[in-house]
Amino acid sequence: MNDMTLVGKNVDTRNIKISARAVQVYYGDTHAIKDVDVDIESNTVTAFIGPSGCGKSTFLRCLNRMNDTIDICRVEGQITLDGEDIYDPKVDPVQLRAKVGMVFQKPNPFPKSIYDNIAYGPRIHGLARNKAELDEIVEKSLRRGAIWDEVKDRLDAPGTGLSGGQQQRLCIARAIATEPEVLLMDEPCSALDPIATAQVEELIDELRQSYSVVIVTHSMQQAARVSQKTAFFHLGNLVEFGETGQIFTNPEDPRTESYITGRIG
Ligand SMILES: Nc1ncnc2c1ncn2[C@@H]1O[C@H](COP(=O)(O)OP(=O)(O)OP(=O)(O)O)[C@@H](O)[C@H]1O
Ligand SMILES: [Mg+2]
Repeated sequence: MNDMTLVGKNVDTRNIKISARAVQVYYGDTHAIKDVDVDIESNTVTAFIGPSGCGKSTFLRCLNRMNDTIDICRVEGQITLDGEDIYDPKVDPVQLRAKVGMVFQKPNPFPKSIYDNIAYGPRIHGLARNKAELDEIVEKSLRRGAIWDEVKDRLDAPGTGLSGGQQQRLCIARAIATEPEVLLMDEPCSALDPIATAQVEELIDELRQSYSVVIVTHSMQQAARVSQKTAFFHLGNLVEFGETGQIFTNPEDPRTESYITGRIG
C-alpha cells in the first residue's frame, strides 16, 4: 500500500499514534516482512490476523523494537510514535517499551512475588513517590488486569505459582502498570479459558479509552468482537487493512476472503 491508498481509506491523520512505512524485516536471508505500510490509531483496537508464519508477531515486535533482541533480525523502513522515529539512535529502547508495552502468547511472570511483578516497572521508571503510592499502583493494575480478587490475599506469593490463565492476567496487569500509551498483545488469550478470555476482552475495550491496543489473534470471532481496525497478513505482506466490519463482511482481496472463510491458514 502507498500513501494514496491509505488516504483513500479515510485514515484520520490527526489520530495516528504509530505510523509504519516501507517496513522490511529479515532473519538472515529470510525476508519475513515485505514493504509494510500501516497506521495505528489512538483509542483504537487494531487486530493483526493471518495464517501461521505470515509475520504477525514479527511485525508486532517492530513496534517496540523487541526484534532488537534477536541477533539475526534486521528491520528497515520507518516507524514513528507520535511522529518521532522509534529507531532513531537517541531513543532508549527501555523507555520506548514502557510507552509501548507488550503481552506475549506464553505468560512470562518474573520469578518474583505477585506484588513485585507489578511493582517492577513503576519502580524502574520512578512512578511512585512512596510505598503507599506503589501499593496503589499495584492494586489498580491488578484490578484492571481482572485478577485482584484472586490474588489480593497472597501478594507475597510467587507469580510463577499461579495458574496459566492467572499468570497471563498478571502479565497484562504488569504491562499496564507503567501506563503505556500503546499495548501490544500477541495472542494474549491462547492460554485462557472462556471466562478469563471474556475478562481480557472487556479489559481491552476499556483500555481503548486511554490507549491504542494492537492484538494478534487466530480467532476471527475475537478480532470481530474487540477490534475496530483489522490488518490481514499473508506471506509477509500486509494484504488488506481497514475497518473490521468491512474486512469481515466485504473484503477486497480474495486472499482475505479465503482466510476469513476458512479456506487458507
Ligand atoms: N527468531 C526467528 N529466527 C528466524 N526466523 C524467524 C524468527 N521468528 C520468526 N521467524 C520467521 O519469520 C516468519 C514469520 O514468523 P512470525 O513468528 O512473525 O509469524 P506469525 O504470523 O506470528 O505466526 P504464528 O501465527 O504461528 O505465531 C516465519 O517464516 C518464521 O519462521
Ligand atoms: Mg506469532
